[in-house]
Amino acid sequence: MPSPDLPALYAEHLAILKQRADTALERGRHDMLVIPSGTRHYQVFDDIDYPYAVNPHFKHWLPLTQAPGSWLVYAPGQRPRLIFLQPHDYWHTVPQDPQGYWVEHFDIEIIRNAEDARQFLPSTSVRAAIIGEPQSALGHVVPNNPDVVLDYLHYHRAYKTAYEIEMMREATRIGVRAHRAALRAFRAGASEFGIYLVYCQAAAQDSSQLPYSSIIALNEHAAILHYTDRDPWPPKPARSFLIDAGASHHGYACDITRTWSAEQDEFQALIDEVDAAQRKMCDEVRAGRDYRDIHLGAHLKLASILKEAGFIHMSPESAVESGVSSTFFPHGIGHGIGLQVHDVAGFAESDSGGSIAKPEGHPYLRLTRTLAPGMVVTIEPGIYFIDMLLEKLRTDSLRQSINWRQVQQFKPYGGIRIEDDVVCTEDAPINLTREAEAETAA
Ligand code: GLY
Ligand code: MN
Ligand code: MN
Repeated sequence: MPSPDLPALYAEHLAILKQRADTALERGRHDMLVIPSGTRHYQVFDDIDYPYAVNPHFKHWLPLTQAPGSWLVYAPGQRPRLIFLQPHDYWHTVPQDPQGYWVEHFDIEIIRNAEDARQFLPSTSVRAAIIGEPQSALGHVVPNNPDVVLDYLHYHRAYKTAYEIEMMREATRIGVRAHRAALRAFRAGASEFGIYLVYCQAAAQDSSQLPYSSIIALNEHAAILHYTDRDPWPPKPARSFLIDAGASHHGYACDITRTWSAEQDEFQALIDEVDAAQRKMCDEVRAGRDYRDIHLGAHLKLASILKEAGFIHMSPESAVESGVSSTFFPHGIGHGIGLQVHDVAGFAESDSGGSIAKPEGHPYLRLTRTLAPGMVVTIEPGIYFIDMLLEKLRTDSLRQSINWRQVQQFKPYGGIRIEDDVVCTEDAPINLTREAEAETAA
């Protein structure tokens, strides 16, 4: 793949953000957009801080993720200004001098104390939309987060610029490389904790950079959807491995899940079925498609697999209708992804508010919008053997439609999830995850 022209893509990205900001400000009758990067948060009654998490609005404009106490100020028609905190501090790493393809687009003011930002921030007479968390307040500059502005910016953030897709492509390359290393560690008999260390090393990222807490689950632990405990001892035997782990690049996330069996056995055959169905679902990421329909279609496809594999004795349609498919697939088919692993505005009806309902009986779906070019979504079907949900089904009249002996046989494997990140285009979708896998296999 030819190297992208990042300076040009970034310039185009910034032009789009300025246009969006202009409209959002006009709608809210504001003259200026002010975005604090955020501050360090301290644990209660302690001087130990939580990992710093940059304001996503800030990193949308700038590929800076470790710059607490900085500010972005933008007024329509003017060059954006970065107020950049580089404190005289020998306790912490001081952010590097601004450098790279983005610098030429900003007027940059270096400050040495967080308080010094005040002189560059708007006075009380300016109608400013100040987007950030309450802790970022500095004197009279207090985040007001106007709904009209946020509704507009959050809604449009779903449509990624070409620059953002390149950032996600690179995050995905890192994630795929680390997944490969993690699989080797599993095959070599490592514990969940050991696999996690291998993953972090291969990604060259730890929990302060990874976009979410990695899920590394062996055996029954794969049935816990957000399992993040990481047992330091390898189980004997290790039958199955579910890894849901991402990576970041310049503030953008990838979110990848793979599941493996230790042997070429019936569980691996079931994984292969889910994998084949997942690829078909990814192909449904098309402009004009209602994401809720992909979710409901996924239930039908997974119910067909459950029937074919002998777990249920009922039609796929009645498994979906009766809720039996939700016992085995109890989460949504995916979500938008970008600056945040679960991107904002998944239910937004328009750029001026409103909400699109989830299908009845599907409370965990995180995205209900109609797909359009530029949207990036995950597709992450699964089949799990979750005690709590199976127990509930056992007390239901539908229990006769379940092959409990087979369910019992598969419970020790925990579950399966396969997850890719897919770009909706005018034409065929781009599967960033499979693309990166193919690239690195070559
Ligand atoms: N890693 C969390 C998720 O897949 O949504
Ligand atoms: Mn996901
Ligand atoms: Mn995931």
